[in-house]
Amino acid sequence: MTEAELYSVHKGVYVPTHLHPPESLKYCEEFTFRQEDILIVTYPKSGTTWMQEIVPLIVSEGDMTPVLTVPNWDRVPWLEEHRAMLLSLEQRPSPRVFATHFHHRMMNESYFKMKPRVLYVMRNPKDVFTSSYHYYGMASYLVNPGTQDEFMEKFLHGNIMFGSWFDHVKGWLNAEEKESILYIFYEEMIADLKGSVEKIGQFLGKSLKADVTEKIADHCVFKNMKQNKMSNLSLVPEEFMNQKKSEFLRKGIAGDWKNHFSEAQEKRFDAVYEDKMKDVKFKFPWD
Ligand code: A3P
Repeated sequence: MTEAELYSVHKGVYVPTHLHPPESLKYCEEFTFRQEDILIVTYPKSGTTWMQEIVPLIVSEGDMTPVLTVPNWDRVPWLEEHRAMLLSLEQRPSPRVFATHFHHRMMNESYFKMKPRVLYVMRNPKDVFTSSYHYYGMASYLVNPGTQDEFMEKFLHGNIMFGSWFDHVKGWLNAEEKESILYIFYEEMIADLKGSVEKIGQFLGKSLKADVTEKIADHCVFKNMKQNKMSNLSLVPEEFMNQKKSEFLRKGIAGDWKNHFSEAQEKRFDAVYEDKMKDVKFKFPWD
């Protein structure tokens, strides 16, 4: 199926209509934030699901109940997705934890007024591309990616769900409300998960005991988290996500792009990256 059949355009970017019907986008636009809310913000395939595991465990100070009993889409609702409006979110006690793939410029008025805490997770765009390529091949609500060359052109031009990775990252890095945002990298979480748990905990005002940090990091390491039915998306029916084609928690490493890119693809990607990121002063771990 084509983009015209599977996607709608919301604030200038494609969104899969099956996940984001107009009424959910309206709900999200009218959503009232609280200052104490915690918002996990990512470009898709940058570590959203991982954070949906880590943050509730920090909030619960290591109590495993929420991650072992509640599916991640209800535990940390995705605000623009259709389930959000069914969950009576306004009745949840603070701190509420949410996820969104919105660009900074797509956030609603209440966000800019309340300035909730944001964890903005970034990942090497080549790995985001590789992860996305597999994901688009297994999810029925996304347009089949075609060849890797074809999908690369779509990715580099932002003709995929949630638009351009470059615009997403630049928009959030340029946010004025920087004091309420923690910028964190997938790669630093891979390199030092315990240190990352501590860092996120500090940002959220939680000083966790060493054994609690250890327990959270141990549970959230890829091979352990992958076993959690509430988080590995195995509860999603196969007609929507066919994990026989590619698992949702697929590889969980930094640098997998090297196993997939040809030399020509690497050159093409680098040329576009350099052009689009030339004005960005931020230091990325993959540069
Ligand atoms: P790969 O496809 O490269 O394996 P998102 O949740 O934003 O859609 O991102 C999904 C990516 O995060 C997938 O990448 C997935 O395997 C990875 N991921 C999820 N949980 C992880 C964990 N505990 N450790 C490392 N990577 C994880």
